[in-house]
Amino acid sequence: MSGYRIERLSNHHNRKAFRCGSEPLDLYFRQRATQDEQRRIALCFVAVAEPDDTVAGFYTLAATSIALDGLPVERARRLPRYPSVPAVLLGRLAVASTHQGKGLGGALVADALLRAAQSEIVGHLMVVDAQDEVAKRFYVHLGFEVLPEDDRRLVRRI
Ligand SMILES: CC(C)(COP(=O)(O)OP(=O)(O)OC[C@H]1O[C@@H](n2cnc3c(N)ncnc32)[C@H](O)[C@@H]1OP(=O)(O)O)[C@@H](O)C(=O)NCCC(=O)NCCS
Repeated sequence: MSGYRIERLSNHHNRKAFRCGSEPLDLYFRQRATQDEQRRIALCFVAVAEPDDTVAGFYTLAATSIALDGLPVERARRLPRYPSVPAVLLGRLAVASTHQGKGLGGALVADALLRAAQSEIVGHLMVVDAQDEVAKRFYVHLGFEVLPEDDRRLVRRI
């Protein structure tokens, strides 16, 4: 997306100034994202607004799996009968309030899907946990499907 570049989180990103309207996500970015990276719990990718290099958004990725019997029947039917399906967790996603509504959230999800598709560690689905109904509608708009037994969790084919 023009005007932004997406890169791995590093020390030169100003995490303190980030505000997205969700305190838990701001706190995560400020206090835990680096630790999660160091412990190999999740990797964090940052959208930097050019030309002033402010942090405009971020997302995290980690490996996960989904039980086959937790998937919508139509989706499960097309998969091998293993107990679970390899997946990639889009653990957190946020766009700074001043950059919302310009397509950056959608671009970050697209970047996450592309990165997952290009990884040699294979995942069949991308998984997200929506923090509220607004976030859920955003993901449904982007082609994610709510799981039948967990209405906070959504999946999409990578
Ligand atoms: C949710 C969030 C990531 C969306 O980012 P954004 O940059 O404002 O969204 P975009 O401008 O990229 O929107 C992409 C598309 O989704 C649509 N959209 C955005 N928010 C939506 C919503 N709540 N419901 C339905 N559609 C939505 C847009 O209209 C746009 O549609 P289009 O491509 O057809 O024009 C952002 O508002 C945010 O960070 N909110 C606070 C934290 C949060 O809720 N994070 C979600 C993680 S649980």
